[in-house]
This record gives sequence, C-alpha cells and structure tokens, in this order.
Amino acid sequence: EKGGYDHFMLKEIYEQPRSIRDCLRGRIYPTEGLVQLGGIKDYIEKLKELDRIIIVACGTSWHAGLVGEYLIEEYARVPVEVEYASEFRYRNPIITPNDLVIAISQSGETADTMAAIELAKEMGATIFGICNVVGASIPRITHAGVYTHAGPEIGVASTKAFTAQVTILTLMAFYIAQQRGNITQSKFIEYLTELDKVPDLVEQTLKCNDTVKAIAERFKDSANCLFLGRGVSFPVALEGALKLKEISYIHAEGYPAAEMKHGPIALIDAEMPVVFIATKNSSYEKVISNIQEVKARGGKVIAIVSEGDVEVKEMADYVIEIPLTGETFVPLLATIPLQLLSYHIAVMRGCNVDQPRNLAKSVTVE
Ligand code: M6R
Repeated sequence: EKGGYDHFMLKEIYEQPRSIRDCLRGRIYPTEGLVQLGGIKDYIEKLKELDRIIIVACGTSWHAGLVGEYLIEEYARVPVEVEYASEFRYRNPIITPNDLVIAISQSGETADTMAAIELAKEMGATIFGICNVVGASIPRITHAGVYTHAGPEIGVASTKAFTAQVTILTLMAFYIAQQRGNITQSKFIEYLTELDKVPDLVEQTLKCNDTVKAIAERFKDSANCLFLGRGVSFPVALEGALKLKEISYIHAEGYPAAEMKHGPIALIDAEMPVVFIATKNSSYEKVISNIQEVKARGGKVIAIVSEGDVEVKEMADYVIEIPLTGETFVPLLATIPLQLLSYHIAVMRGCNVDQPRNLAKSVTVE
C-alpha cells in the first residue's frame, strides 16, 4: 500500500508530479488559451463583480492560502485577506454579499473551517471550496468549488495536498484575472504554458533527494531551525517550518526574511541552521543581504537556489538546487526539498513520520 516506500509521507512526496498533473488535467488548455473550472463556472459573473476575496483555512491549507493571496492580488488585482478559520469565526468579521470566501481544506472536515463557512454564508457571501476529499462535509456546504484531485493523503503531514491547493490557486489567479480583463490573452497563454510544465519541473526537483538527505544528516540533532523567504516564498518558509516541527519535533519558525532583524536574529549562533529560499527572482538581491547577515553571526545557511546559481553558492554552507522557473511557480518547487528535509530528519530521529504524536489527520473538533 505504500508502493515500495518506507512511509506514506515519502510516497506522497514522490507522487507530486502526478498529483499536480491530475489537478490540472481537463482544466487547462495552454494552446487554446483556455481554463475550464467546471465547479465554479456558474459563478463567472460573481468573479467579475466581487470586491474582495477572503481565504479561510487552518495549518498547511492556510499556508496555501497565503500563496494564493500573493498570486490573486498580483494577477487578478482583487484584494485578498487570508484568515485562520478559528480566528475569523469568533471575531465578528465584516462580510458582505460582494465578498467571495474561499475555504481551503484537504480533508473537507476541519471544524473551524466549517464554522467559518457557515458564518460567512449567513452574512451573504459566496463560498467556494478547495478540497481534496470528494463528498466531504465542506464541499457539501459551499456554493461551488474545485477539487484538488491529489488522491488520498494518508500521512498526517500534508504534502501533495498542499502543492495541489497551490496549483488550483495559481490557476484561479489566472482565471479570475482573465474574467476581469486584467490579463492579455498572450500573457494568459504564456502563464498556462508555464504552469503546464510544473509537473515535469517537480519531477526534476525530486532529484535533490540525496543532497537533502546529506543535509538532514548534518542537522538532525539541531534544537531549532529558522526558515526564511520573501514574497511568495514567505509562505513556503512557514510551511517548511511547520513540516519540520510537526514530524521531527524540532522547534522551527518561518519568517519573512526581512523580519529577521526585528527579533529572530537574536537567536542566531553557530548552532542555528537557517534555511533560505533564495531562488533567482525579484527579491534575490535582498535575500542575499539577509544571508550575509546570518553568516556574519555564525549561523549555518542552507539555501534553496535556482539551477546555475553562483552568488548564493559562494555564501551558503549547503545548497539545494531546483530548476529555474518564474516567480509564480517557485512555491510549487521550493516546497519539495523542505518536505524531504523534514522527512529525512524525522526518520533519522526515529520519529513516527506518518503519525506524529498528538496530531490527527482531520481536526474535527475546535
Ligand atoms: O484538512 P485540512 O486541510 O482542513 O487540515 C488543516 C490542518 O489541520 C492541516 O493542514 C495540518 O496543519 C497538517 N497536519 C499540516 O501538515
């Protein structure tokens, strides 16, 4: 049942080229410049008119929501707020019928996310779901939605569900942009063509496994770990930190790289590994300065870099190369080595990778 892998988590990490492909199948037609999202097609008028999008979710799904915020604002130019479902439901939020709420949930059973949906529905908002489990409770209470089609995720640590959620949000960002006339047809085709290549790029990214395993060996006994990224890589840093703490019980935190000097920098010493997402994108030079700040304080830098990188390689203690891609698609690739890093560290520490202590796959109580 684990398909020859030692754990479900590893199987699910390796399934990602396929799960992302399944997620896109029948939905994108790059040569025709067409996106078909059957589950939300009756709401096209709504997408054109809406004033605001509120994304509600918990845990890893909330991180996917943060990636969605960057991409939807960037392409569709609609204001997006991302809320922890547990906070949203109890703080008397301002919601109007012109709002679209997108609830993201792998299981489709998370209690807080369900309650957030019910509340927003009562206040007249339109609710979309992005869920993985077909027929679960959340898809039954939303107005419309898109399934992620990642297949069953057994490992408690979410891996392929996260990349599938990000894939759908990326597609939605392009789609809403097109519906609202914020994107030219030639750009639309260009982005869809890029997105279509992502499954192959993820396949190539998985080749970093041996490099990551060697890094895991070096840092498996660390007490703490920081994950830093900027822009769309900031939620990736949060996700890397959550994965590590969840399955290896190492204390880890994710931050926007520039926030480091507002506090976390005090933690840096020779024992502190700092993982940077330092791919060749708009914030590359800024991230390089942040790496220098860590190096100057003796921290150990592990950097995820784009293939062919020179500058970061000279500075970092360890590098993990991933294929060069447009900034929009970086989360889908940069997440992979972080999943592998936490997986290998957890295995080396003798942890129960698929069923970490105190955690359940679906959190059906608040
Ligand atoms: O099923 P959901 O996506 O609603 O679950 C939300 C969180 O409980 C979940 O993502 C959790 O954080 C994972 N264990 C993270 O790996």
